[in-house]
Amino acid sequence: MKVLIAGGSGFIGRHLVGSLVKDGHEVVALSRGGQPKPPPPGARFVTWDARSPNGDWANELSGAQAVINLAGASIGSRRWTRRRMEELISSRLSATTALAQALERTPADRRPFVLVNASGIDYYGDRGDEVITDDGAPGDSFLARLSQQWEAAAQKAEPLGVRVVRIRTAMVFGREALAFRLLTLPFRLFAGGPLGNGRQWFTWIHVDDINAVAPDVRREGEVAKEIGRVLHRPAFVPAPAFILRLALGAQSQLLLHGRRATPAKAQGLGYRFKFGGLREALEDVTARR
Ligand SMILES: NC(=O)c1ccc[n+]([C@@H]2O[C@H](COP(=O)([O-])OP(=O)(O)OC[C@H]3O[C@@H](n4cnc5c(N)ncnc54)[C@H](OP(=O)(O)O)[C@@H]3O)[C@@H](O)[C@H]2O)c1
Repeated sequence: MKVLIAGGSGFIGRHLVGSLVKDGHEVVALSRGGQPKPPPPGARFVTWDARSPNGDWANELSGAQAVINLAGASIGSRRWTRRRMEELISSRLSATTALAQALERTPADRRPFVLVNASGIDYYGDRGDEVITDDGAPGDSFLARLSQQWEAAAQKAEPLGVRVVRIRTAMVFGREALAFRLLTLPFRLFAGGPLGNGRQWFTWIHVDDINAVAPDVRREGEVAKEIGRVLHRPAFVPAPAFILRLALGAQSQLLLHGRRATPAKAQGLGYRFKFGGLREALEDVTARR
């Protein structure tokens, strides 16, 4: 199968490229910078500007069976100034719109069957103890609104006969994952503990299972204790919500918002998680190799 991955040079993209190549698929990754260093073996990198459907990259859609869209400015790596927040939105909307427009220009009988669009669990906003499944209503936070706009841009491919799959990914656990490294850094410095009151529900997924959320959803305070246990570090230094809000502004929603989301659809389809339990996922990701 030929698979096109927009944002294939990123953390999730590189993992997916490796796994698809290993399974014998032909993988074409779109990147604004072309071939990354070191390049993931087996994939072909093609340059695009992530803003318009023009360019040779669009020819790669013809004859591909699937497109996976992971492109967008990093949510966690830089402080959310007004300008950065605009970039978080525009980078995702432009890239997704360019893909949908390029799909429209691709002859119908050569179009991919499916577009997988990877937005985030933040689609649901901050939901207290409510149990959320894939059909849950959207929330009202900055990231919730961003996710809705992003998904709406992807949906434009549906009238073209392309099935659009919306994956709302939780925080991805992986050795190279920036968000995971930031989450565990205070523990490594002997200063880890619950974020806010620690009662917000924390969803996560191991990168080897990459879909939406793992079934073992816990309150954040329990996750903090589990991280402490696995890293053999104390986990009792709280980071009060007001300090996180003061230090991070709107970006604190990444740490303080909770969603009790369950992978009902994946489980209903019989998906077997490689890492369904929090402890084993943390042990795998933090193990010395
Ligand atoms: N990692 C997580 O925990 C997580 C959780 C939920 C949702 N997600 C979403 O899943 C997607 C992939 O996540 P990731 O962790 O792999 O992200 P990542 O490592 O930051 O990679 C994102 C990719 O997007 C491209 N990109 C960066 N800035 C861009 C811009 N301004 N315009 C267009 N493309 C740009 C980059 O490719 P080039 O520089 O090569 O063009 C990069 O490879 C993201 O959209 C993210 O929001 C991630």
